[in-house]
Order: sequence, then C-alpha cells, then structure tokens
Amino acid sequence: MTTRYEQIQQDLKASPKTWLITGVAGFIGSNLLETLLRLDQTVIGLDSFATGHQHNLDEVQTEVSADQWARFTFIGGDIRNLDDCKKAVTGADYVLHQAALGSVPRSIEDPINTNQANIDGFLNMLVAAKDEGVQSFTYAASSSTYGDHPGLPKVEDKIGKPLSPYAVTKYVNELYADVFARTYDFNTIGLRYFNVFGKRQDPNGAYAAVIPKWTAAMIQGEDVFINGDGETSRDFCFIENVVQINLLAATAQAEAKNHIYNVALGDRTTLNTLFDALKTALAECGVTYDKSPSYRDFRAGDVRHSQADISKAKEVLGYEPAFRIYGGISKAMTWYERALNESR
Ligand SMILES: NC(=O)c1ccc[n+]([C@@H]2O[C@H](COP(=O)([O-])OP(=O)(O)OC[C@H]3O[C@@H](n4cnc5c(N)ncnc54)[C@H](O)[C@@H]3O)[C@@H](O)[C@H]2O)c1
Repeated sequence: MTTRYEQIQQDLKASPKTWLITGVAGFIGSNLLETLLRLDQTVIGLDSFATGHQHNLDEVQTEVSADQWARFTFIGGDIRNLDDCKKAVTGADYVLHQAALGSVPRSIEDPINTNQANIDGFLNMLVAAKDEGVQSFTYAASSSTYGDHPGLPKVEDKIGKPLSPYAVTKYVNELYADVFARTYDFNTIGLRYFNVFGKRQDPNGAYAAVIPKWTAAMIQGEDVFINGDGETSRDFCFIENVVQINLLAATAQAEAKNHIYNVALGDRTTLNTLFDALKTALAECGVTYDKSPSYRDFRAGDVRHSQADISKAKEVLGYEPAFRIYGGISKAMTWYERALNESR
C-alpha cells in the first residue's frame, strides 16, 4: 500500500511547486532543501547565516543534479526585516519557516536577540506569507512549549509554563499563528519538534545540541560532559522523520490546518543510554572511544523528561516515522565520521 508520504512525493514530482524555506543554511533547512530539490521542486531559500553555514548549502549542491540545483535561489536576508521576508515569499506556494535562534542557554544569555529573531521575525514571515496568499505555512515550533507541565507523554493541548526565554518565543509563535487563523483566516501548521538530530547539525559552538557535540568530542578523543546524573531523558527524532512531516504538513487538507503537532518518535532515551549508543555506532564506523563521561551540574532551563505522544500527527497527517533512534544514529554517525575527518 502506498503511504501518504510516498503519494505526496509522486504528486510533487509530477506537478512541481515553489517552496520558500527560511533558515535554509541551517541543519533542518538544508535537509529540507536537499529532499525538495531531489523531488525537482523550485526552492527559494532565505538565511542570514546567523547560525547556518554556506558549507551546508555547498554540500546539498554536491548531493543533487545540476538541473535540480539550478532550481534553487538563495536570498541572503534577515527575517527581522519585513522587506526581506516579502521578497523571499514572492511566488511561493508553500512556506517552511525554520529560521530562528535555537538553544535554551543562548536565550537565557541573550533574550533580546532571541526574541527579535524568533518573535519579530516570525511575525514578519506570517504577515509576508499571508499577504502573498501562499497555499500553506508550516513552521518550526518546539517541545520547549511544554515547559513545566509534568504529564508524560506530552499531548499537544496540555502545556505548562515556559522555562526559558526560548520557550516563550516558541509559544508566542503558536499564539500568533492561532490569532492569524481567527482574524485573517490564514491557517498554518506548527510542528513541535522534539530533539532533532542528523547530518549537518552543527557540532561546534557553545550552543551545540547534545548528539553532534558528543559525537565530535568522541571522534576527537575529548571528554564528554553530561549535565546532571544522565537519567534526564529526551525523545530524539531523526531528521528524515522531520523532513517527512514537513512535506505532509505543507500539503495537508484544510481540516488539518490551524493545528499543532508533536514531531518525535514517542520514545524516551536517557543521556546515559544515548552516550552508550553513540559509542557503539562510532565503533561500527571504526572509531574507538574508551573514556567514561564526566558528570556535572544540571543545566538551568532544562526539563527533566521529554517524550511525545505522536498519535495526532499519525492520525491527521499520516506521519509514519521511518527511522527509530538507533537507525538514525547509525546514519548520522557515518556522516559525522566523514565530515569531521574531512574538516581536519
Ligand atoms: N534542532 C532541534 O532539535 C529543534 C528542536 C525544536 C525546534 N527547533 C526549531 O527548528 C528550527 C531549525 O532549527 P535548526 O536545528 O535547523 O537550527 P539551525 O541553527 O541549524 O538553523 C536555523 C537557521 O536559521 C537562520 N537564522 C537565524 N536567525 C535568522 C534571521 N534573523 N534571519 C534569517 N535567518 C536566520 C540561521 O542562520 C540558520 O541557518 C528553528 O526554528 C528551531 O528553533 C529545532
């Protein structure tokens, strides 16, 4: 039986569309770009390189054909600037809005810049997309919106108080999206990503996510630090599942819109288990890491446990995550091992 995702890919190949990806030079944006170009879509990409990299775009170029690459237009611009948003969205059928300043600790250290990119920038993109009359607007929301709500697994309509400025910004995105549906009949879809990982996720810098940071440390033989006792858990989600749900959301029927969906696996993995899984996957790539992790204090703003209920995304959007955590880690490790060795 053909899945909804397979059907959408066939339909898009047969009848290509024009997409705008904001944050196209980042981790998730560049993976969306690669998939859409492989499907012969026309893609406009907007990025300011605040945290994204030209080398992510260069790598996508090597992964697609010259004809496919010719269908990509890059606009260097900033979502904090309404004119840049308007320029980028011109002619787009579908918008995948990924641009934002990620990271809870960054937002605690610098709430003002996080607010400007994530709230002002989001509102600019909403206005530009509404005025352009795009067919759909799908945006990156975040599991941080669950805040201090103790329930597990997390269900979309039960949230607590935000625990960081970043979480506030992502929650405000959802509030604005809802108000745009009520006041302008502009219906969007918010995807509450849990911890996403995979190729091109930046291992460098103070705000790197745990999987690329630990992987890089292991490949370079450096210490791995675990914040807390290692029993903190997360619902880690491989990037290809995230790409799938973006395409499902963008092409969804009207009834699926003006909704929020959890994007994860529905599993819970502790940091201690993750450490062992990364070590094992690297050993399969020929990299031996024989150090034990170093434990240090819990980090401010972090929730203790996170696990998603993904039944809504499955039922309404036809989401069928194709990768479990170990399959995803194994694919990601192969990429990190090659990429980090090449960059030496
Ligand atoms: N990676 C995760 O686990 C995760 C989890 C929850 C939510 N998210 C959200 O998903 C989205 C993508 O995250 P990512 O992991 O790919 O991060 P990333 O940092 O790799 O990508 C974000 C991209 O947005 C760009 N950007 C930032 N500010 C901008 C601005 N003012 N104007 C134009 N471009 C700007 C950056 O340069 C970067 O290329 C973000 O909205 C993030 O908050 C990610």
